[in-house]
Amino acid sequence: MPKPQPNGRHARPPVPGPAPKRVVVGISGASGAVYATRLLEQLLLGGHEVHLVVTEYGRRLLSDELEISKLELAQLVPSLAGEAEDIENRRLFVHPHKDVGAVIASGSFIHDGMVVIPCSSTALGYIATGSGSNLLGRAAMVTLKERRKLILVHRESPLSYIDIKNMEAVTLAGGIIAPANPGFYLGPAKIDDLVDFVVGKCLDLLDIPHDLKTRWADRAKPYAPGRTPGRDAD
Ligand SMILES: Cc1cc2nc3c(=O)[nH]c(=O)nc-3n(C[C@H](O)[C@H](O)[C@H](O)COP(=O)(O)O)c2cc1C
Repeated sequence: MPKPQPNGRHARPPVPGPAPKRVVVGISGASGAVYATRLLEQLLLGGHEVHLVVTEYGRRLLSDELEISKLELAQLVPSLAGEAEDIENRRLFVHPHKDVGAVIASGSFIHDGMVVIPCSSTALGYIATGSGSNLLGRAAMVTLKERRKLILVHRESPLSYIDIKNMEAVTLAGGIIAPANPGFYLGPAKIDDLVDFVVGKCLDLLDIPHDLKTRWADRAKPYAPGRTPGRDAD
């Protein structure tokens, strides 16, 4: 049995948006599989169509961190298991990562953006150099070529000069590097809050409304002149 995911307990539907979107999600072999499953949950709950590709090491991370052995809805998003048939028939499409002939490999496949979450330094590297030898790399390369939105939720620390140059190349090509580094200013109390912060940022970048807690405006207190933030007690 898959381990219950921390994100499975409070599957709030995202704020309804105007029209369902079509989003490509890539999962590569970086730590943080829970970011991916939470994003999948939010997209599917919101009625969006998801095209998923998972690399070999992405599958290992899903297995190691969340005990997910099969790329099926019941394991990826247990909170949606009741709707499995409907979602698997209409909204969740899983593509084999070695199949560079899958629909998402073609520029003719229209979509609203691709998110690689989490994105390893290896995936960053092959995306930055335009390598399309696996489906994740090919789909990302095509997303850039078609001038669609590509969001890389990179996770690795520290960064080498090569990582930084790769980030520069992706950025110059129109991609967005959105590192998996949550803010703490909303007072996170549990891991879910940190995960939601990162996933909410991705949804913002995809122009998808949501109610995950990411907004400074919900927390900001008026600044009191003469007091030193962080030193004087609130
Ligand atoms: C348990 C585990 C955790 C890993 N975590 C990271 C990570 O956080 N960031 C990263 O860049 N690579 C990480 N790696 C290494 C990548 O999985 C490895 O470089 C792999 O080739 C990535 O290939 P892919 O991007 O095609 O999935 C990890 C590997 C394992 C086995």
